[in-house]
Amino acid sequence: MATTVRVDLRREFADAGSRADPGPVYARLRDLGPVLRSKDILGGGFLLPRYEEVSRVIKDPRFASDRRNVGLRSLDQWWTPGLLRLLISSMVLKDPPEHRRLRNLVQKAFTPARVEKLAGRVEEITDELLDAAAANPVIDLMGDLALPLPLTVIAEMLGVPPADRVRFRTLFAAIQDNSEMTPASIVRNYPRMRRLTGFLQELVRLRREQPGDDLVSALVHAEEAGDRLDEDELISMVFLLLFAGHETTVNLIGNGVLELVRRPDQLQMLRDDPDLIGTAIEEMLRFTNPVGFVAPRFATEDVEIAGVPIPRGSMVTLLIASANLDEAAFPDADTLDITRSPNRHVSFGLGTHFCLGAPLARLEARIAIPALLRRFGHLELAVPADQLPWRRHIALRGVEHLPLVVTPAGASAGRSTT
Ligand code: HEM
Repeated sequence: MATTVRVDLRREFADAGSRADPGPVYARLRDLGPVLRSKDILGGGFLLPRYEEVSRVIKDPRFASDRRNVGLRSLDQWWTPGLLRLLISSMVLKDPPEHRRLRNLVQKAFTPARVEKLAGRVEEITDELLDAAAANPVIDLMGDLALPLPLTVIAEMLGVPPADRVRFRTLFAAIQDNSEMTPASIVRNYPRMRRLTGFLQELVRLRREQPGDDLVSALVHAEEAGDRLDEDELISMVFLLLFAGHETTVNLIGNGVLELVRRPDQLQMLRDDPDLIGTAIEEMLRFTNPVGFVAPRFATEDVEIAGVPIPRGSMVTLLIASANLDEAAFPDADTLDITRSPNRHVSFGLGTHFCLGAPLARLEARIAIPALLRRFGHLELAVPADQLPWRRHIALRGVEHLPLVVTPAGASAGRSTT
């Protein structure tokens, strides 16, 4: 029978070194066994570090995302703060058929064909951001491009009026400090979350009165056309799109560029053959792992995973980041190879909850990274890699700032083109 060693995930990633380079930690976890016991704020239960079990369990209908469906108490109690309730009630923590009903309402806006129509606008926003940054010899890739791009795109998709976009960005940026997700940091963030919720409630009111060709108007309409979304569900959906879609995409762009500047051969290969951008983005998703693990799953019956009995009601945490680095699924898993194909990474999850925003995240990265390379003939880290400030988030991986020394294209003749 497989071992069930106890692991404290928060402690494993307590030091900056392991956040900067999580590969060795995940390799050790995979070596410990296919099923580990979790001992930390994740609430106990089991941890799955290997590709085989992660990719199987994530699609297995015997595992629920809604704890109520295994007889556990809902986190939504009379004393639950209203804001937390909004997050708890989002579709990522629901199972079919409730999940399907909610997902159907937003699905249309995120199909690859619909998202592809945004390409021109994503290019414009990227160019504006790069224009503003290009005057400086050192840019902060995060503040100058990776953070504002996805936020501007989602603000426009949601229908935030142009005059309110700065306020929206300020309100949203304020809650990004909550990266530790500890009870204390959640309480600290509460007033800021309230202000953001107030802003979104105003937006819903506005779009109810003045509908436009945007997502909030479409959701309000759906709500009014029948029993569809009530006001709380609507705000909850918008919250989910903001939280699930923003920092993840920010980190894909940030981590992806960081890996390229640290690997001049891969960067040069992409400059020489821009058509590699498709496989390059998939490899960045796999190798840089913007998301460490998906929402917890709960066993709806007694099951066995790799010979380990998992009693009904147990919580199971699927380490998608570790699965993506599993040598058993990816040859040379700890090497970034922008030509890798096939690349069956699980960075967007799989099955029922497969990332709704995957086409949008791919589009933004596919436009932003080549635009950066075209704009600057030379890019290099402005500080030693071991001094980069990694965020302390338990589930998301990315740097707070990424200072790069840049030379505009054309001015770099005679220099190495990395
Ligand atoms: C690189 C960027 C992104 C990554 C790595 C990512 C990753 C993921 C993962 C792993 C899941 C599955 C969660 C689970 O199974 O519990 C997920 C779900 C989701 N993502 Fe993304 N995501 C990204 C970008 C986006 C964007 C841009 C949006 C929308 C604006 C978005 C919206 C969602 C939503 C709504 C869900 C829940 C889907 C459901 O429950 O059916 N994501 N994402």
